[in-house]
Amino acid sequence: MALLLLTILQVGVGLLALPIHALAFVGLWAPICRRLFPPIMTVVSWYYNKKMREHKKALFGNLGDFARPSGEIALLEIGGGTGANFQFYPPGCKATFVDPNPNFQQYLRKSLAKNGHVECQRFLVAPGEEMCQVATASVDVVVCTLVLCSVHNVDAVLREIKRVLRQGGGFFFLEHVAAHHSSWSCFFQQVYQPTWLHLLSGCHLTRETWKNIEEAKFSELKLRHIDAPLKWNPARPHIIGYAVK
Ligand SMILES: C[S@@+](CC[C@H](N)C(=O)[O-])C[C@H]1O[C@@H](n2cnc3c(N)ncnc32)[C@H](O)[C@@H]1O
Repeated sequence: MALLLLTILQVGVGLLALPIHALAFVGLWAPICRRLFPPIMTVVSWYYNKKMREHKKALFGNLGDFARPSGEIALLEIGGGTGANFQFYPPGCKATFVDPNPNFQQYLRKSLAKNGHVECQRFLVAPGEEMCQVATASVDVVVCTLVLCSVHNVDAVLREIKRVLRQGGGFFFLEHVAAHHSSWSCFFQQVYQPTWLHLLSGCHLTRETWKNIEEAKFSELKLRHIDAPLKWNPARPHIIGYAVK
């Protein structure tokens, strides 16, 4: 019965976005979405930062613990998008950005211009699963926010994060995740999932990403489940924290 209701609601939501499903079916939606996603993310990130400011401030307030004696932090941001996190970084960050979508670059540069305390060393067009241009044990901190929901292979990205981090380096994350499986939120995440995936460039609402991070065997893990203050948003359940290599 529940499965039938779920299917009916999924089809109903899908019908509302029929043109997008049709374009996706013939393979035309992905290139359009790659172009449209960066300007859309500029607006989404502005709103998200407004709502999540205190959480981000508290999270990135710990970045300094991973600085070198000189005060510099070699930071790698995976899926940096529009550069929404730069305002929360402390001075002394020498950053490398990895993103498979080159259309984000112009938006990221605008954010860099506003945040002069962040020094951009490289922008690499690559997926987080294959960051071969980043040397092993070369970075102090890796940052992922709202990225592990979209990557093709979460475990492969986590393996790459552990490879590029120096011993004692920190992996900082803030990700939306699956709701508790017996909740209505979880039911509605499943209702929206097929359409959400196309609308938001491959974003999964129902990933239990905390399990991947726990199984990645970092030496220390500080992970909290929180409800983001995003009213009526199926991506409310979040995890936030950092892991130490
Ligand atoms: C929802 S946006 C989040 C952007 C930014 N991190 C933020 O918090 O505003 C998702 C980002 O992940 C990137 N992305 C998608 N698949 C990826 C992958 N396999 N490896 C690295 N980044 C990826 C997208 O291009 C996009 O920049």
